[in-house]
Amino acid sequence: MLNFNFYNPTHIVFGKNRLDELDKLIPKKAKILILFGGGSVKKFGTLEKVIRSLKDRKIFEFGGIEPNPKYETLIKAINIIKKENIDFLLALGGGSVIDGTKFINLAFNFEDEDKTKLLNYGFSPVPGISKSLPIGTILTLPAAGSEMNSGAVITYNNAKYAVFSPFSFPKFSILDPTLTFTLPSSQVANGIVDSFVHVIEQYLTFPNEARFQDRTAEGILQTLIEIGTKTIENPENYDTRANLVWCSTMALNGLIGAGVPQDWTTHMIGHELTVLFGIDHGKTLAILQPAIWQVRKEEKREKLIQYAERVWKITEGDNNSKIDLAINKTREFFESLGVKTYLSDYGIKKDKIDIIINALEKHGMTALSETGDINLDISRKILNKTIS
Ligand code: NZQ
Ligand code: ZN
Repeated sequence: MLNFNFYNPTHIVFGKNRLDELDKLIPKKAKILILFGGGSVKKFGTLEKVIRSLKDRKIFEFGGIEPNPKYETLIKAINIIKKENIDFLLALGGGSVIDGTKFINLAFNFEDEDKTKLLNYGFSPVPGISKSLPIGTILTLPAAGSEMNSGAVITYNNAKYAVFSPFSFPKFSILDPTLTFTLPSSQVANGIVDSFVHVIEQYLTFPNEARFQDRTAEGILQTLIEIGTKTIENPENYDTRANLVWCSTMALNGLIGAGVPQDWTTHMIGHELTVLFGIDHGKTLAILQPAIWQVRKEEKREKLIQYAERVWKITEGDNNSKIDLAINKTREFFESLGVKTYLSDYGIKKDKIDIIINALEKHGMTALSETGDINLDISRKILNKTIS
């Protein structure tokens, strides 16, 4: 097991009808900016419920944060924070709204005038931040895990950038599964795949005596497999949805990632597919994961066998057939959620692979994987496998 620091200060308030507790979680005299997306929170009455539970606090609104939140949209919020002396940020939505809120907070407190410099640090904490506003989140889409981590993904100049800072941990996050009941099935499916692949990125690398992390990761994967199609077919079944929400949060809050090698190839190539072709984040991962395993069978052999035996309970056959069966079962699982697993399912043909490779090169994605050995040639091999 590798050395690690585990720190997560986010207070989780989980369960139904917990919005009333907002009153206890936010200072009485707070001047609050509520941030949200394209309108689902208005349409389904969540915004109204939130405003009611904030009683007579001073409230301002910043809506319009788009999926894959754009730098140009987010930066506009800084003026409101300055002008109205905002001292609390409340994000109401999914990963895009929460990530956007985190970025707005960093940009407001960043000493340099050029806020795009915040995009240059990848997975390392951004420097030049000495104070921050408190952030609270009310999650409406279980997927990204942003409600309990210090990361964000921001779109700028046709690229997606990871932006990390310890100041980005929410003070609290309210996870009320009933607020996700209004999600379209395709967004629920996106969230299941995103959560599943977050676990894979931190689990399916090479063995390093991290028994607790492995067993916990396997538990999340098995739960997602058990409840995946159920929570899509019965969106208002509280118990299955509650399990999805908690699995999704626990998949990317630092716990299973502590002390283990991490991959993130699927995400890095997936980000290019989202920016180039507008494919939802979760859907890009379902396309890439089976292909990556097909190309990386040798490098991931031991953990692929462990994944086959422990998660899919595959006991028959030799190791090669166990690996192939586990890859096929994973692909079938994604497809059972209604998520396609080939780039060609989106009408994208081999002739587009060059532009993806050029984008990877332009964004410095030339040494991916847990050992940094996935170069552009190997990425090309992976992408070729996504064209059926
Ligand atoms: O914009 P609104 O109107 O709110 O509609 C949203 C949006 O259109 C809708 N929606 C959300 N909650 C709803 C709802 N519709 C009905 N009922 C509800 N309760 O769903 C659509 C997608 O929302 P979005 O927030 O974009 O989806 P998701 O939560 O999957 O977030 C995706 C973003 O998260 C980033 C991705 O890159 C992407 O930008 N990620 C962030 C990570 C992190 N911070 O750690 C890690 C992840 O790997 C991921 O990269
Ligand atoms: Zn993701």
